[in-house]
Amino acid sequence: MRIIRSINLLRNELKAVRSKNQTIGFVPTMGAFHEGHFSLMRKARRDNDIVVVSVFVNPTQFGPHEDFKKYPRQIKIDELFAKKEKVDIIFYPSAEKMYQPGYLTYVNVTNISKVLCGRSRPNHFNGVATVVSKLINITEPDVMYLGQKDAQQAAIIKAMVKDLNFNVRIKICPIVREKNGLAMSSRNSYLSQKQRDEAPILYKSLVGAKNKILSGKTSSKSIINWIDSNIKDNSSGIVDYIECVNADTLDPITKIKGRIMIAIAVKFGKTRLIDNIVFHSR
Ligand code: PAF
Repeated sequence: MRIIRSINLLRNELKAVRSKNQTIGFVPTMGAFHEGHFSLMRKARRDNDIVVVSVFVNPTQFGPHEDFKKYPRQIKIDELFAKKEKVDIIFYPSAEKMYQPGYLTYVNVTNISKVLCGRSRPNHFNGVATVVSKLINITEPDVMYLGQKDAQQAAIIKAMVKDLNFNVRIKICPIVREKNGLAMSSRNSYLSQKQRDEAPILYKSLVGAKNKILSGKTSSKSIINWIDSNIKDNSSGIVDYIECVNADTLDPITKIKGRIMIAIAVKFGKTRLIDNIVFHSR
């Protein structure tokens, strides 16, 4: 496995790969690998000749009061993990090379970047869309692998790839959870033991809501209220949002019907956790 920091070097390496008609699977990450990342790497490994994983804590997707500085950085450990997953190349660029002096260009996927997480993180998805565009242009992969945990991010990247005619297929892989249901996230490392014990209430509430819907409840409002009370009654979490939306368009729905997503964001102290569940209602 190689670690490549230079954009030009990576481009040349991958040009040689493409000239041999080999396929490239790409997993964009911000590092601090966990089982969620490994599942993407494994899928990419099964499907492709060459697997490229980027590790880049992207400054443009963090708000001024967010955790950019303290976001976990552990490239040496990540390197060992990636080797074990038989990754071929880690692309590990510097912020200075990705955003050179005089940098001017940002990608804005309108509408769906403003709902859900976009309300409390106003420029976040512009930063994500921008860096992912750059990473696609640099690696030119056949397939890019993303996690369903960041469902809104996945929907935005899918829309961007379609709208801007990027030549890449996207595969969304299922959420990986701890035994207690907590969705794997690099940010779980910020949680205290008490918060860790409480955080599985997110998934328990989503499953509880799904069961209510499958047994006939159709009012989003009553489902949202039930999740809200369940989280408040069983944890110290402060709800940022709970929403029932159309799983494809992310449009809010009042009467539950068709393929829906229930998405939630809850703060435990300073740590904001997100989770979601997608299913066919009746
Ligand atoms: O999901 C992430 O880790 C990041 O948002 C991504 C897609 C790597 C862009 O920085």
